[in-house]
Amino acid sequence: MIKVTSDVKTITQMTRDLPGPLAVVPTMGALHEGHLALIRRARQLVGPGGTVAISIFVNPIQFDRLSDLTNYPRPLKSDLALCEKEGVDLAFTPQKDFFYHSDHSVLVTESLLSKRLCGLSRPGHFDGVLTVVVKLFNLLQPTLAVFGDKDFQQIALIRRMVRDLNMPVKIVGHPTVREPDGLALSSRNIRLTPEHRKDAPRIQRSLSAASNLAVTGEQNPAAYLQCAKKHLLANAPEGFSIDYLELIDTKSMQAVSRVTRPAVLATACYYGEIRLIDHINIQDQ
Ligand code: PAF
Repeated sequence: MIKVTSDVKTITQMTRDLPGPLAVVPTMGALHEGHLALIRRARQLVGPGGTVAISIFVNPIQFDRLSDLTNYPRPLKSDLALCEKEGVDLAFTPQKDFFYHSDHSVLVTESLLSKRLCGLSRPGHFDGVLTVVVKLFNLLQPTLAVFGDKDFQQIALIRRMVRDLNMPVKIVGHPTVREPDGLALSSRNIRLTPEHRKDAPRIQRSLSAASNLAVTGEQNPAAYLQCAKKHLLANAPEGFSIDYLELIDTKSMQAVSRVTRPAVLATACYYGEIRLIDHINIQDQ
């Protein structure tokens, strides 16, 4: 039977009392198959004798647009039912007023990798993510934490933070889970209009079409970017726009001047108000 608590004061003792090792899956709720895959991976890693905990918290300080925060889905009851079904041992569901002091003034900032891509278009976003992750790690004290690879910049930043601040948590990435039509699962997908939802697999198709250039030995980043852009924009519906499209080195997050492994073609696109991200690894053939 799942234990559910929103109590920030007792959560640390609660996780200490549970049998270890402890794997945590940090989420903002609105759980989908992608999250369930993270939960299953967490269970696999700690085994039947370990503990799997999930946090469900729509973290206000990582939102750069109030409308996005306000409209973020919060189906807590059905999320908890899913967790129960997946055999999660503990769900931590803090309330924002008890999680952040009204005069909280300390943020965790990464000063290099966070300045590109999503960090550039969403100022303050990664400060909010890293801060909440540190707070969750401090409160839950997990052995390991599982995050989706879809948010590849996020997980790179969390790994960097854990390394640079000597945090005793193992970070595990799990491959992106997709709809049968290729759209990467995201809690934001349910907010797409039917027309935009139908069109949204164009993002993955475009990245994939560009990545096929690797087979020809293409090393010019411009060729990949042009190809992806062409596919992204061809007969795109009204309301669609590209926020960024970049071919970057995975370690530095800087644009590459020649395509050699490991490089990532990454994009963020808007369907109206809804911003979706996706990326693909470009293999050196
Ligand atoms: O990826 C997410 O859902 C969030 O950014 C995270 C890691 C749970 C922090 O709020």
